[in-house]
Amino acid sequence: MIQVAPSLLSADFTRLEEAVSLIEKAGADIVHVDVMDGHYVPNLTFGPRLVSLLKKKTSLPLDVHLMVDNPHEVVPWFLEAGADWISIHLEASAHLRRDVSLIRQAGRKAGVALNPATPLPALNDILAELDFVLLMCVNPGRGSQPFIDASHEKIRSLRRLLRERNLPARIEIDGGVNLQNMDVLIKDGAEILVAGNAVFNHPDPGEAVRLMKETARRADAS
Ligand code: DX5
Ligand code: ZN
Repeated sequence: MIQVAPSLLSADFTRLEEAVSLIEKAGADIVHVDVMDGHYVPNLTFGPRLVSLLKKKTSLPLDVHLMVDNPHEVVPWFLEAGADWISIHLEASAHLRRDVSLIRQAGRKAGVALNPATPLPALNDILAELDFVLLMCVNPGRGSQPFIDASHEKIRSLRRLLRERNLPARIEIDGGVNLQNMDVLIKDGAEILVAGNAVFNHPDPGEAVRLMKETARRADAS
């Protein structure tokens, strides 16, 4: 099933409750929460307190994308806050297997995120332990950047790899996703589509979610 995960990064930070309720009503599947620490990426965003507050405002799963150095230190905070899905960056974790099992032992979904320049084989040894892989299709740190075209081939290769090894990890893609490129990305093998700019900078964000869901449903049915 193809899922749509609007990213709150492009929402009005002073009106997040409204943003979450709007996307939930419009049929979004997941809420994507971008956590940035000002070190791993040159930007600061949300912490665990916000995640625990959002948890009370929505029944959608909260997908926490940790763009932080030393994820090991902060993963427990976000587990405690009620994150349903947590992804950590392969490039930022000194002990990926330890960090992934921390998430899975808590009964949450664990993902590993890869920057555009990180090659797929870096995932080989951990792939079987993952619920999802987050492929960055822009350099992490901010929204509204153009999709990096080389990501198409990367998504297709990951899809092939998962099929060959018969592994259940799902493919989430993040950065530069919009209504225009969604179809191709789904054909490439993407299953969870994160979209910030395409949703929250749309004149009618609810309509943007509905249109994305319609495309997702059509792809599921074909
Ligand atoms: C970027 C974040 C993304 C971001 C995507 O570092 O990880 O989740 O919100 O934004 P758009 O969809 O605007 O490219
Ligand atoms: Zn993200």
